[in-house]
Amino acid sequence: MRHTRVDIEELDASAYLDLLASVTALQADAYRPPPWNYSDEEIAEFPGELERQLGFPGFRAITAHRAGRLVGTAYGVPGPERIPNSGAFYRPVVTALGRHRADVLLSDHPFEVVQLMVDPATQRQGIGRAILQRLVVKATRAWLVTLPDSPASQVYLASGWQPQRPRFPLWGREVEIWTLGI
Ligand SMILES: CC(C)(COP(=O)(O)OP(=O)(O)OC[C@H]1O[C@@H](n2cnc3c(N)ncnc32)[C@H](O)[C@@H]1OP(=O)(O)O)[C@@H](O)C(=O)NCCC(=O)NCCS
Repeated sequence: MRHTRVDIEELDASAYLDLLASVTALQADAYRPPPWNYSDEEIAEFPGELERQLGFPGFRAITAHRAGRLVGTAYGVPGPERIPNSGAFYRPVVTALGRHRADVLLSDHPFEVVQLMVDPATQRQGIGRAILQRLVVKATRAWLVTLPDSPASQVYLASGWQPQRPRFPLWGREVEIWTLGI
């Protein structure tokens, strides 16, 4: 199966909603193992989070299917004009970078990569890099948050992204911002 063709396509929010069950199942498989070690409680929050994110303006998703099975996906949204000082996601980002640097790096709608995941059984076959590239192909600037020193950070490094210091606490973990074109 390893060499069967992978079909990559872009979906809008309503088409992606139809895949909610398979996306959240893939998410559990990708985030349960190290380095994320997501708990059952965190995994149980995935469908609700995704449904909320599907409502964000400009939502875009990429899927990778092999032999009819979802093996990878990535999605994201254009960020706001100016990231707010409030909110469970933005507040720690602004605190870590400082207001001025947050404005310099992240203002004016850079594309936010919200999720990138590949089925552990099909990782290290170039699927993650291919779907990330397709997701940001139209973006001149993009950013995301991930775990430092992880397989994901290797993908970003291999795809021309740059890490930004400092690392900071979020989601009960130490995380790092990566930027593209910034
Ligand atoms: C991150 C993730 C999506 C990568 O998917 P993938 O399909 O395995 O990545 P690719 O095969 O496209 O890898 C591209 C390059 O990244 C690097 N890379 C990927 N995984 C790596 C690993 N485990 N160790 C070292 N380098 C790695 C390599 O340079 C690789 O190219 P190469 O195989 O030609 O050397 C996958 O590991 C995953 O789903 N992880 C769990 C969820 C996650 O961390 N998502 C990102 C959150 S922001």
